[in-house]
Amino acid sequence: MPSFHIITFGCQMNAGDSDWMRRTLSAGGLTEAERHDQADVYIVNTCSVRDKPEQKVYSELGRIERFLHVQRRKALICVGGCVAQQIGDRLFRRFPNVRMVFGPGGVHAAPEAVFRLLEEPQTRLSFLDFPDAYQERRLNLELKPFEADLSGGRQAEAALGKAPVSTLVTIMQGCDNFCAYCIVPYVRGRQKSRETTDILQECRELVAHGSKEITLLGQNVNSFGQDRKTPGASFAELLYEVAALPGLERLRFLTPHPKDIAERVIQAFAELPNLAPRLHLPLQSGSDRILKAMGRKYDLPAYMKIVENLRAARPEIFLSTDIIVGFPGETEEDFQNTMSALKAMDCAFSFSFAYSDRPGTRAEKMPDKVDPAVAAERLARLQSWQNGNTEALLRARVGETCLMLAEDVSLPPPSTQKTLPALQGKDERGVAVNVELAPEVNGEELIGRMLPVKIIAAGRHSLKGQLG
Ligand code: SAH
Ligand code: SF4
Ligand code: F3S
Repeated sequence: MPSFHIITFGCQMNAGDSDWMRRTLSAGGLTEAERHDQADVYIVNTCSVRDKPEQKVYSELGRIERFLHVQRRKALICVGGCVAQQIGDRLFRRFPNVRMVFGPGGVHAAPEAVFRLLEEPQTRLSFLDFPDAYQERRLNLELKPFEADLSGGRQAEAALGKAPVSTLVTIMQGCDNFCAYCIVPYVRGRQKSRETTDILQECRELVAHGSKEITLLGQNVNSFGQDRKTPGASFAELLYEVAALPGLERLRFLTPHPKDIAERVIQAFAELPNLAPRLHLPLQSGSDRILKAMGRKYDLPAYMKIVENLRAARPEIFLSTDIIVGFPGETEEDFQNTMSALKAMDCAFSFSFAYSDRPGTRAEKMPDKVDPAVAAERLARLQSWQNGNTEALLRARVGETCLMLAEDVSLPPPSTQKTLPALQGKDERGVAVNVELAPEVNGEELIGRMLPVKIIAAGRHSLKGQLG
């Protein structure tokens, strides 16, 4: 059977799309390649949000072509995602070995196309249209019955169509917000919400097949359902319905836009015990002038009010955010406002980026571009404060007990002195936790369990614990 390897860049939406393609290809009989340079099928799932994305894709494709050349063999190469949507069929010209190009709107068709291309070596396919509505995808969980594999438990699990402990569930595609700097609406198309019944059905199936944690995904989950002609469930209603599914131990969602987070969504943090106390709430800038130029449609006081209400609803909540520094026209004073906002919200993690021009966006045409060196220096200052704050927040938790959802067991890297396997997972606040296991403990049996773990040390971005 041919083997495949998927390389994923970009956001959680891409990660969710890659997960689904992985499950579908496996369900169809392909196996995941054991070594990355030995697959028969490559899918590069690309992101175009910032930083020379096209070059990244070209260098990845160049790398694949080089080792195929050295190995004197051919493979089926497919390019999907947001850069594929942008470059389109031109990829065929530049890379003769690429035989499929598909945008985010073509993901549903990609696995079947892979099977067809394996049968038809002369064919090339592209899927670059934006569908009018969300394209439902097959679930692929029921396709393989459980069979005990005595040789190696974990590999068997992956091949058995068992659902991962923690899963991403897409609830919508595209985005209608057109923030001035952002390319997403151009490469993912207009917002298309999925039917509530289909989402609930997928969540139920996932839980029935072993998922314990679900993350609901969309570019702006708060506006879920608002693109429908006939009104359906709001995001708050969906959240309550998913949370009520028996067996679902933990629920998260990504990404809410601050401009339209509903009171009821904030209330959910007080009322739903399985809604994890962690929220990623992109701020982008702490300067009202810059927020206005970005077209974000909220100001700092409105953002801080949400933060206050979230903390009132769930005092222990960890907040994380996205920041762009060096947006056109940003002054040192604007940047200082961003720093103060991060401090005021006591941000636990931030993903910060230097502004990067994206073709066709409003910001690309704005005057007063910030010198890249100035932006880089601001970024360094921000990240240095953030690293310190993250470490301090994690260190303050040493001695506490957290609830870790165990997702994986791994052996220590050969370079270290350690020999014991470690259990990995996330705590309720979404922090990675590592637990070294005693030799008599069978880590495999703990996967999927919610375990009380005593925190014994804090790293820069993760915690170390002991089974309690
Ligand atoms: N839908 C999400 C964001 C998706 S893009 C939201 O609205 O929050 C992920 C992040 O990339 C953004 O939050 C932003 O911080 C960053 N980003 C987007 N476009 C960018 C650009 N042109 N330059 C730098 N960072 C950018
Ligand atoms: Fe981009 Fe704004 Fe849409 Fe987020 S909300 S994907 S930043 S346009
Ligand atoms: Fe990147 Fe596309 Fe996501 S541009 S951030 S992969 S929506």
